[in-house]
Amino acid sequence: MSNYHIKHLEEYYQVYRKSVREPEKFWEEVAEEHFLWRKKWDKVLDWDFNKPEVKWFEGAKLNITENCIDRHLATRADKTAILFEPNDPNEGAEHITYRQLYERVNQFANVLKQQGVKKGDRVCIYVPMIPELAISVLACARIGAIHSVVFAGFSATALSTRINDSDCKLVITSDGSYRGSKTIDLKGIVDEALESCPNVETVLVAKRINSEITMKEGRDKWLQPLLDNASKEGKAEVMDAEDPLFILYTSGSTGLPKGMVHTTGGYMVYTAYTFKNAFQYRENDVYWCTADIGWITGHSYIVYGPLANGATTVLFEGVPSYPNFGRFWDIVQKHKVTQFYTAPTAIRALAKQGAELVEAYDLSSLKVLGSVGEPINEEAWHWYNDTIGKKKSPIIDSWWQTETGGIMITPIPYVTPTKPTYATLPFIGIQPALMDENGKELKGNQVEGRLCIKFPWPSIARTIWGNHQRYKDTYFSAFENMYFTGDGAIRDEVGYYRITGRVDDVIIVSGHNLGTAPIEDAINEHPAVAESAIVGFPHDVKGSALYGYVTLKDIGETRNHDNLRIEINQLISDRIGPIAKLDKIQFTNGLPKTRSGKIMRRILRKIASKETDNLGDTSTLLNPECVQEIMDTSL
Ligand code: PRX
Repeated sequence: MSNYHIKHLEEYYQVYRKSVREPEKFWEEVAEEHFLWRKKWDKVLDWDFNKPEVKWFEGAKLNITENCIDRHLATRADKTAILFEPNDPNEGAEHITYRQLYERVNQFANVLKQQGVKKGDRVCIYVPMIPELAISVLACARIGAIHSVVFAGFSATALSTRINDSDCKLVITSDGSYRGSKTIDLKGIVDEALESCPNVETVLVAKRINSEITMKEGRDKWLQPLLDNASKEGKAEVMDAEDPLFILYTSGSTGLPKGMVHTTGGYMVYTAYTFKNAFQYRENDVYWCTADIGWITGHSYIVYGPLANGATTVLFEGVPSYPNFGRFWDIVQKHKVTQFYTAPTAIRALAKQGAELVEAYDLSSLKVLGSVGEPINEEAWHWYNDTIGKKKSPIIDSWWQTETGGIMITPIPYVTPTKPTYATLPFIGIQPALMDENGKELKGNQVEGRLCIKFPWPSIARTIWGNHQRYKDTYFSAFENMYFTGDGAIRDEVGYYRITGRVDDVIIVSGHNLGTAPIEDAINEHPAVAESAIVGFPHDVKGSALYGYVTLKDIGETRNHDNLRIEINQLISDRIGPIAKLDKIQFTNGLPKTRSGKIMRRILRKIASKETDNLGDTSTLLNPECVQEIMDTSL
């Protein structure tokens, strides 16, 4: 069916119009023709953004792993499903075929069952980028357990918070992980986290770095012997389309991370459909997304979307700088990668290394270049386009979120003409709206406002685990009958969208969402700290970096600020993870506040970004005098 694969701009507009005029009919056709259902749905869509409630394909029965694995066995059994590229290039790549994936997922699923995991149970996966990560995700889905992958760079505290929030009884991890020339003691982090997770009964440990670790009697089990004894066959659990598939945590501007819940049927349809079109995927392509499966990009576009299309998906364990900054291009050359999907922060870091490291490699296999996670600046866009793409591989600057499950605004390569820094046009079925601060929709072109979505799409997150009220408050309360994204955007004269960045207190550092509140909470735990405020400021590689303003308790003596800075960053690293460390810490005697006591981050943001010409009216502040002091001592 042509609707499944869009090949030119006119077709895009035609299909888009159809998807907006008759969304139910459109998605029903896609779902019917391209997926394996045990039973068809009773109703395509039921929704109410006021409740809020969204249901797609209600009444349908399926298992997503039958769509991602079993159905390919007839025609693609010996095709590589997962192409594992290890941290150390000398270790050699591993090709896991669809047949082998089928067997390994069944073995893992059978082990989980033996350990007492049942449909609906939550399983925490804290595993580095090794095949066991993708396999454990699929094994959970196979038996209907809800996976909660926690990025294996998060700290023990961040891990325990997530384990407890969704009450996981089983944790999957590895002895350790490789990261360039370093090793990380993952099991040690898990042990520390589990000190505050009384409900975890079992820990399954994959062997990766062969380090000496302690195994807690009765709780910790080596994975491999269990797998070796498990059957390679197994039936997939029959799931309802609206059964939860996974929970994935994302930072909010306040409080605990939000456990976004994605369900099965709609998520599968949308991630598969977007994968096919946004990457113009063809049968013999080798697709590589450099994200970690610990983030939504990895869930949707390393695991589910590619496998649902029977694709070959590269899983890379390492980092772009090891053994040197040519590693990405070495992998592209070695595996003849056709679609390459990465983040602006990586592009900027690699662009700094100079052209020689790129020129040494043959990148002629590349057809599509993707960018995701944060706005891509013009310089990085051009470097990517010219130096990597040789001006012949279109860049898809794809905008989406953990909450949206799949790509929402993106050029379709070879279909949509690109424009630097613009995510361009809404994807099929997506109805964006720009709103002004008073809640009025800004119609027409050449407008700038808050980005909302008017109509549900199949992979929208259905709730926040255990807190539906927060889901409603965060996404459906700012604007009536709209999903609010938290981002600002411009719509240009031809209707192209450019995402300008977050309009809330989330800061994106190297493509990672960080909420200010949890970082401030961590800083405030330091016994010398009275108060703190975090803002973002421009950084040439990370996009944004963190600037902390800290006031100290008055104890009648001066302290060594350099030591305090180290201690504060250590606290942040322990509580959240190294990605949340501050680049700059300024000690001040006060923080600017409104008369109701709210910290004026707007002013601090301007000072941190050195935009002090127009601070706005500061006279209404509770303590206007501190603004000058902060400017005078600014770093
Ligand atoms: O601010 C937007 C930014 O990343 C946020 C979502 O982050 P997360 O849930 O971690 O998902 C990232 C990967 C899908 C968005 O609210 N963002 C994502 N993609 C882009 C972007 N900003 C600008 N341009 C993009 N292409």
